[in-house]
Amino acid sequence: MKEFIQKLPKAELHLHIEGSLEPELMFKLAKRNNIQLKFKSVQEIKDAYEFDNLQSFLDIYYEGAGVLLKEQDFYDLTWEYLERCKEDNVKHTEIFFDPQTHTDRGISFDVAFNGIHQALKDGESKLGITSHIIMCFLRHLSEEEAFKTLDQAIKHKDKIIGVGLDSSEVGHPPSKFQRVFDKARELGFKTVAHAGEEGPPEYIWEALDLLKVERIDHGVRCLEDDKLVARLQKEEIPLTVCPYSNIKLRVFEKLEDHNLRKLLDKNLVATINADDPAYFGGYLGENFEGTQKALDLTKEELKTLAKNSFKASFISNELKQKYYKEIDSL
Ligand code: ADE
Ligand code: ZN
Repeated sequence: MKEFIQKLPKAELHLHIEGSLEPELMFKLAKRNNIQLKFKSVQEIKDAYEFDNLQSFLDIYYEGAGVLLKEQDFYDLTWEYLERCKEDNVKHTEIFFDPQTHTDRGISFDVAFNGIHQALKDGESKLGITSHIIMCFLRHLSEEEAFKTLDQAIKHKDKIIGVGLDSSEVGHPPSKFQRVFDKARELGFKTVAHAGEEGPPEYIWEALDLLKVERIDHGVRCLEDDKLVARLQKEEIPLTVCPYSNIKLRVFEKLEDHNLRKLLDKNLVATINADDPAYFGGYLGENFEGTQKALDLTKEELKTLAKNSFKASFISNELKQKYYKEIDSL
């Protein structure tokens, strides 16, 4: 199975680039930038990665991102992720980046963006991995701050395919950002949003109706609402599911309890993704392998998941057909 999973061409659609910051690189960048970490060793960092919920993770995740200061740091971060993509046969990735995590610390939008973008360009020319960037608004911050971030993105509009919504979900419903998303769509950005990770099915309804998203990030709580499931089926709205993340953040107690197979059985366009692999213990290949074992997924189901990843992506129809054929031939 491991070999079969490796060979499957895959797209990744839910990956926070800041969440791919490995403890080793965090240490290296802290040293390079003269930053004092509160951890004394890589092992100490790894030991701290025990989370009770989304917020307990986010607190550590924002702190970790504090070692990213220069364009080169963002480049190195992104490049290391792309090298992992190559190992896992990820052909295409649509990564999230959180500008406010950096601009709030005095790092300019452009420094972060240019480092990430340059690495992605090199990823295409040197590793053959295509990519898109999705800029996320931090939902625990205000609408006004989101508008400011959208303004900063305009000059990079041709290099950012869409906007998303992440960070602390409960208490920050999609409705808070309806006007920002209206403006983003007017400017030509596609829209996606985290919803139904810890938050209730109502947040998924809001993401669809108010933010007019083309995909739901996570969305695993949709099964609590039959009408919502019918809507997701009818409109073929993809769900970017992140199994390892859901266990680490205690959305499900163990991988065997995950509802991914139920989502597939309902013909929903579910995909597997890594979310924040450096914090949750696995990249895309490992998420596929672990979930396959825990849920005893068949090769056919794995093929469906791989096909869904391209179907749900923002690549051309022509390219989608090419990948479907490759997957069918396995
Ligand atoms: N930011 C990084 N990972 C996240 C997640 N799983 N949910 C919400 N915000 C995030
Ligand atoms: Zn996420």
